[in-house]
Amino acid sequence: MRRVVCPGSFDPVTNGHLDIIGRASRQYDEVVVAVLINIEKKSLFTVEERIEMLQSVTKEYGNVRVDKFHGLLVDYCKQQEIPAIVKGLRAISDFDYELQMAQLNYRMSEVETLFMATGPEVSFLSSSRIKEIVRYGGDVAGLVPDLVHDLLVERLRG
Ligand code: PNS
Repeated sequence: MRRVVCPGSFDPVTNGHLDIIGRASRQYDEVVVAVLINIEKKSLFTVEERIEMLQSVTKEYGNVRVDKFHGLLVDYCKQQEIPAIVKGLRAISDFDYELQMAQLNYRMSEVETLFMATGPEVSFLSSSRIKEIVRYGGDVAGLVPDLVHDLLVERLRG
């Protein structure tokens, strides 16, 4: 079984995340989308809400499982017998941070990190910017799944 993990906060999932998850699902037998439980970071959606959204928008892929983790990602990988992490690179600005993390993760555990170039049609997206736009009345239709769009509007403007 060739398995990879796509980790992240997913607060909430965007079409940029889905681009990477969907393409990874065509390359691997199973993709585990792992939501970080981070009590230090204030989030808009609870971990359970984020998991539900992810499950709903990835079910069509057929080989995507959604889970949560806390602590070190490499410990989760070892425990789940996942040999590699897939990350999307949007721009050069992602690179320094991602390279350091990939090197540290490999040094700690020999878990590999594989980078996928994010599709140019979604490479400008981030969950933070999406939340900001919705909060101030902007339109994010087409940038997040419809379900996420409706939940964002309800939570931020409701
Ligand atoms: O969507 P994000 O917030 O950019 O995702 C970051 C994430 C979850 C991939 C990263 O913060 C992470 O792996 N955190 C777990 C803690 C960990 O393993 N830290 C050591 C990295 S060298």
